[in-house]
Amino acid sequence: MDPAPPPAFTRWSRDARIGARTVSFRVDGRPLEGFEGECLVVALGASGVLALRCSPAAGTPRGAFCLMGVCQECVVVVDGELVPACAEPVRAGMDVVTDSLRRRFAGAPDV
Ligand code: FES
Repeated sequence: MDPAPPPAFTRWSRDARIGARTVSFRVDGRPLEGFEGECLVVALGASGVLALRCSPAAGTPRGAFCLMGVCQECVVVVDGELVPACAEPVRAGMDVVTDSLRRRFAGAPDV
């Protein structure tokens, strides 16, 4: 019998990260924690934030797809800059806004 395939999404524990420092940052106005330097999309996913934006036309939730900065499905605003969350490292105090483009098209303010 073949062993079970590895999970598609694994986050190393704090114990497995030698010298890892936990930092706090904000997502849509609420505090979250992540490991300094880890990929933002991983920190968000580990906290249950999987829908990072909505399709402007259909309004369907969108999330990480390529995980290498190409597809732009994971675009969020970090400290006022539009960036792919899969190419952004977690930093202490960063301010992340999800779904900002739809909010702007709809005339709603950013959080
Ligand atoms: S998941 Fe494709 S650019 Fe981030």
